[in-house]
Amino acid sequence: MRVNVNNLTFAYTQKLVLNNVSFSLKSGDFLTIHGKNGTGKTTLIRCFLKLLRVENGMIFLDDVDINKIRKFSNVGYVPQKNDFNYEFPITVSEILSCAYPRKRDAFFTQIVNSMDLNTIYNENINNLSGGQIQRVFIARALLSKPKLLILDEPTVGVDIDNVNALHDILKKLKEQSITIILVSHDMDYCSDITDYYLNFNELGEYEFEKVGGEDVSS
Ligand SMILES: Nc1ncnc2c1ncn2[C@@H]1O[C@H](COP(=O)(O)OP(=O)(O)OP(=O)(O)O)[C@@H](O)[C@H]1O
Ligand SMILES: [Mg+2]
Repeated sequence: MRVNVNNLTFAYTQKLVLNNVSFSLKSGDFLTIHGKNGTGKTTLIRCFLKLLRVENGMIFLDDVDINKIRKFSNVGYVPQKNDFNYEFPITVSEILSCAYPRKRDAFFTQIVNSMDLNTIYNENINNLSGGQIQRVFIARALLSKPKLLILDEPTVGVDIDNVNALHDILKKLKEQSITIILVSHDMDYCSDITDYYLNFNELGEYEFEKVGGEDVSS
């Protein structure tokens, strides 16, 4: 999926968080977003998903203004850990079924296996550890067969085997021309498959840079 962000500016009441952000991605591009706590990474993602109302600037997915999109059927999202109410009474199986309202097939089984969810498949979400919950959300996003996958700090609390498993999955998705946006505090994670970096600083300023190329931010 192609992504275009044009002059996106966002403020919570008085506080400017995103200052005139512009960048473009082609299908299959991998963007890694870095920046200290509170610099606007999650805010940018919330703008993408229309969880925040954008008043200044525009976002296009495959050349369609997101304001004209009713349902993001091709966008997978792994929220930052504390963005979800874990008290909600729902099982792993129910969460995955919502994302995949068809019969269990080979693809479904492959995703469940890849995120190591078999042993917790029938557990209630509020009985799981933070890392286990994170793996459930990664699987849920993958099951929606996204053309754009957005992951907000997906490896927080996840053990090394599953962090590596996620890396390998993301690498394969990129090979299938799926566009990926990853927020991470780990400067090295997925550096081998990253095409662009978006680095935010505390002033709402940013740098958009191509790996091995020039800085193309304004
Ligand atoms: N709902 C809100 N209302 C007001 N201010 C908010 C709200 N959500 C976030 N902020 C503020 O906006 C700024 C950016 O927050 P955001 O969550 O986008 O940061 P982040 O880069 O994702 O940080 P982290 O690395 O901690 O996840 C912070 O200063 C934060 O306090
Ligand atoms: Mg965040």
